[in-house]
Amino acid sequence: MTQMNDKAQAVDGRPLGVAVVGLGYWGPNLVRNLQELPEVRLVSVCDLREEALAVISRRYPAVATTTSFADVLADPQVEAVVIATPVSTHHPLAAAALEAGKHCFVEKPLAASSSEAAELIALAGERGLTLMPGHTFLYSPPVQVVRSMIESGELGDIYFISTSRVNLGLHQSDASVAWDLGPHDFSILRYWLEETPAHVSALSRSCIMPGTPDVAFINLEFGSGAIAHVEIAWLAPSKLRRTTVVGSRKMVVYDDTSNEPVRVFDSGVTLPNPETFGEYRLSYRTGDIVSPRIDAAEPLLLELRDFCAAIRTGSTPRSSSHLGLEVVRMIEAVDESLELNGARVGLAPTLAV
Ligand SMILES: NC(=O)c1ccc[n+]([C@@H]2O[C@H](COP(=O)([O-])OP(=O)(O)OC[C@H]3O[C@@H](n4cnc5c(N)ncnc54)[C@H](O)[C@@H]3O)[C@@H](O)[C@H]2O)c1
Repeated sequence: MTQMNDKAQAVDGRPLGVAVVGLGYWGPNLVRNLQELPEVRLVSVCDLREEALAVISRRYPAVATTTSFADVLADPQVEAVVIATPVSTHHPLAAAALEAGKHCFVEKPLAASSSEAAELIALAGERGLTLMPGHTFLYSPPVQVVRSMIESGELGDIYFISTSRVNLGLHQSDASVAWDLGPHDFSILRYWLEETPAHVSALSRSCIMPGTPDVAFINLEFGSGAIAHVEIAWLAPSKLRRTTVVGSRKMVVYDDTSNEPVRVFDSGVTLPNPETFGEYRLSYRTGDIVSPRIDAAEPLLLELRDFCAAIRTGSTPRSSSHLGLEVVRMIEAVDESLELNGARVGLAPTLAV
């Protein structure tokens, strides 16, 4: 059924000409998914490394290759650029692409600072172009299921969320663990709670490479009263991708490594009105544990489809540039707290750009 809809879209409209820039660890996944989208024509790929281009060329001989980003921008067939290069290059590459009139998908995080991110948003706005950060987890079916439960009130008021995203590797050369893994949890929290934290405090350590924190424990306090603890590390004996959401009605465990990624616990504690002053009798409830059906869909494919739809229809993608800016502001607050030895740092309310 989905296939038929895709085909219909491809027949109605001309496929969108796309180029992918950056073919390291992540870029080839973007290439593979773009190749699967009938509404896209992958025109070219670009990397500074010839060997990375050769790998794509062998697999997809019809796709042009170049080591020159200027060539990509000069090609009128390229309507949109997908950027999967290191964080420090996101702003210069995306700004040049937008200035050349190309729609832009930028891997997470959107930019290396909130001022850079805001500049890109302004540039895209002025030119009427789509700018979308690659917050892939917002397209993950389990994340979507939890979001629906929060939105519908099924979980009640959200008391707290605690999350662990740890495994052994991949140390990044130009980013701390907060800039590398933080965007995943921060984007999910921003999407679920629809608010940016009011306060952030963090603790980290550079265990392996001096000056590059590879473990961080981050506390977030939200205006609604919800609190969150985010544990991220490139150093851990086993892979954990586990988030617990505790609400006033129900609780949820979202475990991305499990074949039952979402488990909903009809459990809680209530404090009935004390019959007499000073008398507290808590009421504990441990009910059913339900594992909802989760669609088997590749988040990256859904994400790139949302990018194409945003270009075609002018809609705001779920992973919006505004959310991308808020995520960068959260990471900056982590860095500020770390500079102040873990001090509790205030974040201004959501910026409207
Ligand atoms: N959404 C996700 O789940 C996810 C997962 C992994 C990485 N990422 C993001 O993808 C981006 C890339 O990460 P990676 O791990 O693939 O990095 P990487 O270092 O493995 O690859 C980066 C590639 O970019 C190329 N490059 C650098 N500057 C360039 C330039 N000016 N022009 C053309 N090519 C250039 C390099 O040669 C390299 O091949 C980062 O922003 C990262 O955060 C996202």
